[in-house]
Amino acid sequence: MKSESRTLCYPPGMMSWQKDEFAISTDPARIDLKRVHAFLSQAYWCAGIPIEVVKKSIDGSLPFGIYRGGEQIGFARVITDYATIAYLGDVYVEPEWRGRGLSKWLMECILAHPELQGLRRFCLLTKDAQGLYAKFGFKNRENPTHYMEVLVKDLYRKS
Ligand SMILES: CC(C)(COP(=O)(O)OP(=O)(O)OC[C@H]1O[C@@H](n2cnc3c(N)ncnc32)[C@H](O)[C@@H]1OP(=O)(O)O)[C@@H](O)C(=O)NCCC(=O)NCCS
Repeated sequence: MKSESRTLCYPPGMMSWQKDEFAISTDPARIDLKRVHAFLSQAYWCAGIPIEVVKKSIDGSLPFGIYRGGEQIGFARVITDYATIAYLGDVYVEPEWRGRGLSKWLMECILAHPELQGLRRFCLLTKDAQGLYAKFGFKNRENPTHYMEVLVKDLYRKS
């Protein structure tokens, strides 16, 4: 495809949502990289991840930050071609702000994003939060043998 035939520039324009004292924003400049790294480097799915890798992953994604004032209290990112498929990852809410519906609101904002409509597949992996995503229409694969991956376990853990 010639570059002049492209119709849209990605990543798409920034969006934000406000509810009470909380905000959700897709502005990468608002992300508190140190804070996001502090959480992700302890998370069960990517423990020990280096901060440069977190930065690169955010640079290559559509990020969603949850903020209270200037403080980042949650995060998620969507990896997507904006046309057919998206993968939701690195979803978290800081412990002291859990249980107030913030992750449900985050899911509503993500799924309402105008550039994430009409996708054939929206997927994610989770160890124990199936109940959260089921509220938004996510289901277990009907046939798990149709899914394949190369997974490097404990890639970031120091031996
Ligand atoms: C999972 C997480 C993002 C939920 O955030 P939260 O803001 O506290 O969630 P909410 O208040 O919006 O409520 C979540 C809803 O999903 C349900 N749920 C299902 N599985 C859950 C789980 N493993 N953790 C939390 N809630 C879960 C809750 O019961 C709640 O339903 P309800 O409103 O009917 O009671 C948060 O607990 C977290 O950051 N956990 C650590 C990181 C993590 O596991 N991330 C998900 C990786 S896939």
